[in-house]
Amino acid sequence: MCGIVGAVSERDVQGILLEGLRRLEYRGYDSAGMAVLQADGSIRRAREVGKVAALADAIAETPCRGDLGIAHTRWATHGEPSRLNAHPHMSGDRLAIVHNGIIENYQELRDQLKAAGFEFTSQTDTEVVVHLIEQEYRRTGALIEAVRAAIGQLRGAYALAVMHADEPDHLVVCREGSPLVVGVGIGENFIASDQLALLPVTDRFMFLEEGDLADIRRDSVKIWDRSGAPADRGITRFEHGADSADKGEYRHYMLKEIYEQPKVIKATMEGRVTASRVLEQALGTEAGKLLENVRHVQIIACGTSYHAGMVARYWIEELAGVPCSVEVASEFRYRKHVIQPDTLFLCISQSGETADTLAALRQAKAAGFRAALAICNVPGSSLVRESDLVIMTQAGPEIGVASTKAFTTQLTALLLFTLALARHNGLSEQQEAEIIAAIHQLPGQVEQVLALDSDIAELARAFMDKNHSLFLGRGAMYPVAQEGALKLKEISYIHAEAYPAGELKHGPLALVDSEMPVVTVAPNNDLVEKLKSNLEEVRARGGELFVFADKAAEVKAGDGIHVLQIPPVHPITAPIVYTVPLQLLSYHVAVLKGTDVDQPRNLAKSVTVE
Ligand code: G6P
Repeated sequence: MCGIVGAVSERDVQGILLEGLRRLEYRGYDSAGMAVLQADGSIRRAREVGKVAALADAIAETPCRGDLGIAHTRWATHGEPSRLNAHPHMSGDRLAIVHNGIIENYQELRDQLKAAGFEFTSQTDTEVVVHLIEQEYRRTGALIEAVRAAIGQLRGAYALAVMHADEPDHLVVCREGSPLVVGVGIGENFIASDQLALLPVTDRFMFLEEGDLADIRRDSVKIWDRSGAPADRGITRFEHGADSADKGEYRHYMLKEIYEQPKVIKATMEGRVTASRVLEQALGTEAGKLLENVRHVQIIACGTSYHAGMVARYWIEELAGVPCSVEVASEFRYRKHVIQPDTLFLCISQSGETADTLAALRQAKAAGFRAALAICNVPGSSLVRESDLVIMTQAGPEIGVASTKAFTTQLTALLLFTLALARHNGLSEQQEAEIIAAIHQLPGQVEQVLALDSDIAELARAFMDKNHSLFLGRGAMYPVAQEGALKLKEISYIHAEAYPAGELKHGPLALVDSEMPVVTVAPNNDLVEKLKSNLEEVRARGGELFVFADKAAEVKAGDGIHVLQIPPVHPITAPIVYTVPLQLLSYHVAVLKGTDVDQPRNLAKSVTVE
């Protein structure tokens, strides 16, 4: 993981690098550092343990001024978070690099470089890379050639930005398995792990491809592909508003992003549905052809995106009658699978850069799956570029590590996809129109749930001093319960487990007592009566129940049963609406506990390592 940013300009770049790092903190935040080429021709490096703010404080005291520089925010893989392990890493005092990714053969390279006389000051795999480049620099005398020769010896995943004090006019960068984008300015150019980092300085980007090497100068960008041939990656303009990375009036990004949901769900529908139909063409010009004769859908994703896939499975089997399997990418990629004929491979990823999901996609393509569809939130990401068909969620940049609006827009996109697929498989016009009408109601229904915020904040008090909790749901509400449990554990550090309510009696009931709050999502669907029996089972053991329920479900509040009424929703769209109160519940528990809501410990937003 980690975030990298770099700039070559005619102005001082320390402010640009620092702001870039702040915007990349979602990629890791255990230490940060920067190196700039000063006016006297020497490199000054600053590194601090902790968040970017600690680096900013250090730089405020002793500035890091220069017109060429690189910077890094870290999520530790090799070596604990410490100043010595923080990037940039240097070989001598003239060469500095920042790195995102993992070098798999670092141990053998380290042994070789040690034998050649290089001294190591950190436990990182990155320090191996900087010494290797230095070794090649001594041989070739040119930074670009040195980097080219060094990366030829690396195995693993990396995005690198390299600077040398003897070549003060450029940065050399490359990518293999980790994202890297070039920001194009006027008389200045930039690089970063994500375009978000560079929005204050440009909205024009070139996306490097796997194996690319680039020479970044003030007034030129030269790119070579893996074979060494010059490559033209074209310039793309950024699509979302530049202020989306600001918190605005909200106390946390997570809360802002929860409140953005009516707007971004609407944006995800826009242009893709009429009053009664899905516009198949709007899902991609090739959509019709790709969806024809699909006999099986294989969904792959990680984390929250996996839960979106789990919900979609219920929809796809119910509405399209097409069998659907869902698997987490890190499992799928390491086992043998039986490929059913005419299987559509569907990857869901907010970032489009999750290493396991990308690896699974590449494997699937090599194994001959029919076609790859991506549901993704980041234009230009690796997943988007490598898939045959893409449905973009229109969530805008999501900064909070705990995913919220990305999830509900993924669900919206998945439901539109399901309807398009179902139309090829016998869904009637009337059924489609009924569900489309329900989809049109979503933004308003989510608004109504947001209006319950203060009631949910009250409920959150009961969780403050608890160590464990249970989330129950049935049918498509089971993955909603899983997502609710994930949110709570991610940001409040309370152990939360989700169960399909019918499984309660097969084990978890043994845990239920007054110290174990049980959260349940109960829309008024055909499983509600069964769910109510499950709630009785909990109540009979003294468990305290928190039920989010449709009024018509007639779950009665009483001693030990807290009921929050959710507006009536169509059973198909219920997973989207019922997700929102669970997000708010976790948010308020975390705020009450005083945890770091937007950047929970040990996690990162975009997991670009295995
Ligand atoms: C990380 C994030 C999660 C996210 C998961 C998958 O674990 O913290 O919020 O759901 O990665 O990320 P993706 O970008 O592929 O959806």
